[in-house]
Amino acid sequence: MKEAVAKLFETAGRALSESLGDPKALERVRVRFLGRKGELGQLFKELANVAEQERREAGRVLNEAKVRLEALFSEALEKKRELEALRSQAIDVSVPGRRPPAGRLHPITQTATEICRIFNWLGFETVEGPEIELDYYNFEALNIPKDHPARDMQDTFYISDDVVLRTHTSPLQVRTMEKRKPPVRIIAPGRTYRRDSDVTHTPMFHQVEGLMVGEGISFGDLKGILTTFVHQMFGKTVALRFRPSFFPFTEPSAEVDIACVMCRGKGCRVCKSTGWLEILGSGMVDPAVYKHVDYDPEKITGFAFGMGIERIAMLIFGIDDLRLFFENDLRFLQQF
Ligand code: PHE
Repeated sequence: MKEAVAKLFETAGRALSESLGDPKALERVRVRFLGRKGELGQLFKELANVAEQERREAGRVLNEAKVRLEALFSEALEKKRELEALRSQAIDVSVPGRRPPAGRLHPITQTATEICRIFNWLGFETVEGPEIELDYYNFEALNIPKDHPARDMQDTFYISDDVVLRTHTSPLQVRTMEKRKPPVRIIAPGRTYRRDSDVTHTPMFHQVEGLMVGEGISFGDLKGILTTFVHQMFGKTVALRFRPSFFPFTEPSAEVDIACVMCRGKGCRVCKSTGWLEILGSGMVDPAVYKHVDYDPEKITGFAFGMGIERIAMLIFGIDDLRLFFENDLRFLQQF
C-alpha cells in the first residue's frame, strides 16, 4: 500500500505541474485523483483486500495521503490564482508613454524676452510702467504739447482729458529719468494701444523702449548698440541702414531698416519691392525732454529707441498676418 501511495503522489505531482497554467486541466486532474471514483478512492476500496493485521496501518497511510493530496491541490489552486492576478495586472513596458500636454510661451513673449536678453547683456536694465498713462508722460513731457500736430501720428484712446492708454512705451523714458540720476541704461517692454485695426495693425500691440543717457554719449553709441542688437537678433550677415526720420522727442532721429529677411534685399511682397524692412525708431534724446526731468542738457546726452515686438516676431518666425498672434488658435500657438 505504501508503494502504491508513493506512486500515486509521483503521478499526481507530474499531472499537477503540467496543468498549472490551465484551470480546466487542473480540475480534471483533481477529479482524476480525488474524485469519488478517483485513483485515491480506488486505493480505499482495495483496503478490503488487505490482510487484517495490516489494514489499520494501511488505512492510516491512505488517510494521511488524502490530507496531503488535498493540500497539494489547494496549493496548486492558490498558485493558479496568483498567476492569473499577475497576468491581469501586467504592465506592457514597451507601450509608448502618453506625453503630458506642455504649455509654452506665446511667440510675442518669446520675442520680447529675447530682445530684453540681448539688451541686458549690453548692460540695459529691464523696467516696466503703467499701461494707463497720464497725458503728461505719454505726450507732454515728450515734447508733444496738446495742440501739437504730432498727436495725429498716434490715434489715442482717451480715458479722460488727462489720462490715456499709452500709445507707445516712450513714457518710460521720462518716468525713469525722473526717478534716477544719470547715467541710465534701461529697456522697457510692454503693451501699447492705438485706435487702429487692419491687416497690419491691432488696437493693442507691444513695444520695447530703450534709453541710454549719460555724459558723452553720442550718435556713434546709438549706431553701435543698435547694430550689435540687429546682428544678435537677425544674424551677423544681415545688412542694416540708418534712415533720417522725425520724432518730437529725439533730435536727430533715425529709423533702422534691415535687409528684407524674406528676399535678402532683392525685393518682394513683404518689403513691398524695396528690399528693406523698417524695424525701429530712434534718435538722440531732445534737450526739451531733459528739461522735464531736471537733467542738464549741457552735460548730459543720450539716445532712445523703440520697436514693435509683433513686427520683429513676424520677421523672426516668418508670420505674414499680425492678427494670428491674438486669435489664440492652438494650432498656431503650438508651433512655437
Ligand atoms: N515711440 C516711437 C513710436 O512709437 C518710437 C521711438 C522711440 C522713436 C524712441 C524714437 C525714440 O513710434
